[in-house]
Amino acid sequence: MKILGISGSPRPKEQSAVYRLVETVLENTGMEYELISLRNKSISGCIACLGCVKDNVCKVEDDFTPIREKIVKADAYVVGAPNYYSTINAASHAFFERWFQFRHQAGNHLWGKLAVTVGAGGTSGRIPADCLETFLLYNFIETVAKVHGQGAASCYSCGYGESCQVGIPNMLHGPGVKITEDMIPDVKKQPDVMAAAVNAGRLLASRLQSDHDRLAVTDTMQAKMMSMFESAV
Ligand SMILES: Cc1cc2nc3c(=O)[nH]c(=O)nc-3n(C[C@H](O)[C@H](O)[C@H](O)COP(=O)(O)O)c2cc1C
Repeated sequence: MKILGISGSPRPKEQSAVYRLVETVLENTGMEYELISLRNKSISGCIACLGCVKDNVCKVEDDFTPIREKIVKADAYVVGAPNYYSTINAASHAFFERWFQFRHQAGNHLWGKLAVTVGAGGTSGRIPADCLETFLLYNFIETVAKVHGQGAASCYSCGYGESCQVGIPNMLHGPGVKITEDMIPDVKKQPDVMAAAVNAGRLLASRLQSDHDRLAVTDTMQAKMMSMFESAV
């Protein structure tokens, strides 16, 4: 069994809260995994050409193309994105729009698979974790756990963080804030968040290894999606 990890942060992995959390979840599955970062990748959103409807293969050629087969072959996913303007960042959105190619006819490549979603934000990562769960639901993938934490907003290192009226340091600590190393959010310093990442990895592995029934998960997720549609009307 193999798990595919996706980090949607454009920042280097050493700086990225999303990358760190996705990696921690993957490490704690104890299973074989591959972690792909969307940093420096050129991936467009879905262009609604409908070229994928017959064979479930997207006809747009870009950096998504070599990842497609890894998505199909993976038994589960650990996917993470940063909070940009109270939704997921554009790179992650574009990437997950392209999963539209798997949604047609009997293109049963992803149905009933399992996932963990991860989010990080300058205030909270809950929104991206929830948003990714919804993306996955469209392919009848069950999110077994969500992990979210507070990452460092760029305002802490931009050079104007102490005086900027609309920066995160001012908003969180008030006017006249003096930025010190210990106040810069870092998921590694949030024990509850790191514990949630460890537990999510273990839960995903245990679900995969205990008679994971893809058909049953597919039915449950399909019902969940229908009820989401009904309540949205
Ligand atoms: C363009 C932009 C918009 C952002 N908007 C939000 C936001 O609306 N809410 C929030 O909590 N954080 C916001 N952030 C902060 C990021 O979510 C935060 O820095 C997070 O740690 C990024 O994840 P990463 O460390 O994995 O790159 C924004 C950052 C950028 C660059």
